[in-house]
Amino acid sequence: MHSVAVERVVTGTEVQLMSGLEAEELTRKQGMNSRVILVGAVIVALVGGVILGRFSSGLGGGGSLADIASERGMTVEQAEGALKAFTPPGEYDEYVLVSSGGHSGQLHLVGVPSMRLLKTIPVFTPESWAGYGQGADWSQAILDEGSSNKQARELAWGDTHHPALSETEGAYDGRFVYINDRANGRIGMVDLRDFKVKQILDIPNMQTSHGGVFVTPNTEYVHVSSMTPMPQTENGYADLEDYADLYRGMSTFLASDPDTGRLDTDASFQIELPPYTQDLADAGKLESFGFAFINSYNSEMAVGGNAEGGVPIETGASQADFDYLHIIDWQKAEAVANAGGTEERNGMRVIPLETAISEGILYFAPEPRSPHGVDVDPTGNYIVIGGKLDQNATIYDIALIKEAIANEDFEGTDRYGVPILTFESVVAGQVLLGAGPLHTQFDGEGHAYTSLFLDSAIAEFTLGPKAGVPDGEAFQLVDKVSVHYNIGHLAATEGDTVAADGRYLVALNKWSVDRFPVLGTLKPQNFQLIDLTADKMAVLADMPIGFGEPHYSQIIRLDRLTSAIETYEPGTDPLTFGPPAFATAAGEERVERDGSEVHVYMTATRSHFTPDILRVREGDTVFLHVTNIEITPDATHGFAVPGYNLQASLDPGEVVTLAFEADRSGSFAFYCTEFCSALHLEMQGWLLVEP
Ligand code: CUA
Repeated sequence: MHSVAVERVVTGTEVQLMSGLEAEELTRKQGMNSRVILVGAVIVALVGGVILGRFSSGLGGGGSLADIASERGMTVEQAEGALKAFTPPGEYDEYVLVSSGGHSGQLHLVGVPSMRLLKTIPVFTPESWAGYGQGADWSQAILDEGSSNKQARELAWGDTHHPALSETEGAYDGRFVYINDRANGRIGMVDLRDFKVKQILDIPNMQTSHGGVFVTPNTEYVHVSSMTPMPQTENGYADLEDYADLYRGMSTFLASDPDTGRLDTDASFQIELPPYTQDLADAGKLESFGFAFINSYNSEMAVGGNAEGGVPIETGASQADFDYLHIIDWQKAEAVANAGGTEERNGMRVIPLETAISEGILYFAPEPRSPHGVDVDPTGNYIVIGGKLDQNATIYDIALIKEAIANEDFEGTDRYGVPILTFESVVAGQVLLGAGPLHTQFDGEGHAYTSLFLDSAIAEFTLGPKAGVPDGEAFQLVDKVSVHYNIGHLAATEGDTVAADGRYLVALNKWSVDRFPVLGTLKPQNFQLIDLTADKMAVLADMPIGFGEPHYSQIIRLDRLTSAIETYEPGTDPLTFGPPAFATAAGEERVERDGSEVHVYMTATRSHFTPDILRVREGDTVFLHVTNIEITPDATHGFAVPGYNLQASLDPGEVVTLAFEADRSGSFAFYCTEFCSALHLEMQGWLLVEP
């Protein structure tokens, strides 16, 4: 978006710091209503008679803002960046960045533009602040359900990579966010009412999933594709000699319940893919609605073996000049699945590769070697590919793809018989960007922004006429900005959707090297906030990320998060949002014993638990049903028992059951872990386990 951000200057009453150029621009834009007077190095902006700001470029004797900038050794640009990114205390950011947390297994919510960490949501990994996976029944149920399928044992961690916010008509609707586990081929669903995970699904017939996650434009399906292919054999084993014959990739369309967001395996289906390495994926929208796009690399099917006389995987996988963009007609696949054209495999309907080919579900288009990102622009017309080993962005046009399919304009088939569309017939343009193009985001005004991993930069280029760019200006590089260092993904405000608004871009950088003080050997990654509203992209702020390696993020406008609740209805089970049988009201607290099974119906409120003395016998099985009977927002209580590995967090209205074997006798002082009141320390009690 090429316009100066004058909106805040003219509407705000706050003091603004401006460079001379911006002041001039402001004067031009505001016409008769504003004057900018340049007095020496001091700029005084008058808009409608309101003095907005003064700046003295370090000469002293200017306004206090200039003094502060000067005292802190800031340049004009840095001071401007600080003001653009600053969100005053007590005010809200306009956007929330929903970030993967890498192998911390969590999700993180960050305010944009302030880049303040707002919240961490545990998904795949136990986390004690939220009382997640520390004995509370609802969270344990989710973690247990999510490690039901794989041959591995109970899974205690995940590698979150690609969040996908739910959409209605191609725009975020603020209802759910899905997040994959790259390590174990799972997906989690977080309900954006209470921002807690409600489901982890262990996806059958695939093992890992990298970036193949998206929702279709009305969240009809949540898509997850495999990264490394997996043997489609009874026992999940096949020697690598049989790679081409027995290993297969999977494109998984998980049906999402429109009311609960839960994924329903029975209504879902998979499409079998050749054993290439399927990578990033995106959903078609508007003009390309009904299609899905998946990048692949390693069409060479290299399996490594560098200690067995073979070549390393990275060499073997980078031989061919072209890999294959997978083009999937998911509406056709849905029809084939519903007509019974599937075979059942581990509880999932699978469309075999041969069927996908014969039914016209799967086509390939050549894409320059080792592609990574595939991103559909907000109009749905263009599909942008970044090739790790190619310096161009390659832009495909969905109309050309549809035409080539209709005309059977194929340059051949791959070894499995998948038709390959003629490259020249489906490509609208290429733009030379620089080294290592990966992922692309959009501003909704015909501009695309691609991360350059090797250059540590972001390149901005124009799309074509169908995105509103005049013919002569189409497919041209227009700007570049340096980032520090090794950018992977980038996220623009609502940049994945039809509502991309071109306000901010966040670079998700892998290395920070000398960017931050040396605080040990493990260094943070670095988010960088970039302003898209000025003529040239500019880095405004750094945000070191000290909690696992974020991969992808999406940025949603705060005002779309309308389903968020502040407190539960009294007596709510967070897993179902319904009242559990063991919800306890004030005055109904009790202990019920049935043989060696003890049920405690307990309430928590400031500043006591009732009952506060629990008497059980060694060997009893104890069910502690704790209800937080508070109705005040933020009146959260914790419940922790020393030595028993039990910790729950109870938000107002929430009911949690902690079940445990009283297998250690002793006197245990349980307590509330949240600093909830002046008498928080007194909010404790005794668990007496009689020998
Ligand atoms: Cu309740 Cu501290």
